[in-house]
Amino acid sequence: MAKLVYILNGPNLNLLGKRQPHIYGSETLADVERECAALAAELGVKIRFLQSNTEGQIIDWIHQAREEAAGIVINPAAYTHTSVAILDALNAFDGPVIEVHISNVHKREAFRHHSYVSLRADGVIAGCGTEGYRLALRRIVTVAGTQA
Ligand code: DQA
Repeated sequence: MAKLVYILNGPNLNLLGKRQPHIYGSETLADVERECAALAAELGVKIRFLQSNTEGQIIDWIHQAREEAAGIVINPAAYTHTSVAILDALNAFDGPVIEVHISNVHKREAFRHHSYVSLRADGVIAGCGTEGYRLALRRIVTVAGTQA
């Protein structure tokens, strides 16, 4: 059976393509989902692509991932810099976790330089635009393989 990878997106990423396009580009989150789904089919894995503006919902999805996912790609958006609760949830997940940021957070405001999620992430991709999601998916497959 093909492995399942969760791709989780945090607050405001539903506005991708409309929100600060000079920073985040003009692609929508639906475009990113389509590209990830195409790559997943090529690689032989399944994806669940999700977005929420609510911290608790993201935590519930991480708990769900414990039961069924081989790995997690996560762009926690602003929760990256604030959420001990998302870090704790990820610490309860056993598979590979890759943290993605569309922008290069290290070139931006100082408050974006610290990530709670990086204390758990096996890899971090920042500043590669929306391609970062596909790079992260490839990495999950490299580490976890494709078959459950
Ligand atoms: C982001 C960077 C965060 O600092 C910001 O709060 C976001 C998006 C990125 O993808 O570049 O909402 O995670």
